[in-house]
Amino acid sequence: MRRIGVLISGRGSNMLALADAVATERIPNAGIAVVISNVTTAAGLERARERGIETVALDHRGKTREEHDRAMAAELRAREVDLVCLAGYMRLLSSWFTREFEHRILNIHPSLLPAFPGLNAQQQAIDYGVKFTGCTVHLVDEELDHGPIIKQAVVPVLPDDTEETLSARILIEEHRIYAEAVALMLGGKFKIEGRRIVQRQ
Ligand code: GRF
Repeated sequence: MRRIGVLISGRGSNMLALADAVATERIPNAGIAVVISNVTTAAGLERARERGIETVALDHRGKTREEHDRAMAAELRAREVDLVCLAGYMRLLSSWFTREFEHRILNIHPSLLPAFPGLNAQQQAIDYGVKFTGCTVHLVDEELDHGPIIKQAVVPVLPDDTEETLSARILIEEHRIYAEAVALMLGGKFKIEGRRIVQRQ
């Protein structure tokens, strides 16, 4: 049984999508060991508890970034987590944390990276006038929204799209490819060649 730790800051829909994928064995032989939020009031914490998933609220305020990350790492290690999934976790990680869990942290971002990193990626896509955007699951390294790409999905930008309508269509794809990416990483049938993640049969 492989153990997943999920970090959230908000509503947690990607976290729930991973929980569903684990329950239906689209992510086989795995469980979510813990959901950690840096925002104590995050709606996703309650939604995780409703599913019987253990939660930890760790307020980042009043600590340095690394102090906070070391506290998270202690919770993850205590549960022998194999993979850390960022799911709407809205804080930068310290380089200490990214090194500590090197090649074992995944993030979902709502654009086709390297386009539109950072906040409000869907609005950035609308403002830029691209006809297609999408979402990306990637390994996390020390740079924001930067590590090797595991999966992407393309979503058209429609003429009447608002940030809300576009975000909603991207979110459906996020939920799908995040589960696929986690299954791939836990299955181990890949190798990392520089920035490229190459799937093996
Ligand atoms: C998602 O759009 C994700 O790509 C971004 O933040 C949002 C989180 O949504 N990083 P949720 O909390 O998973 O519902």
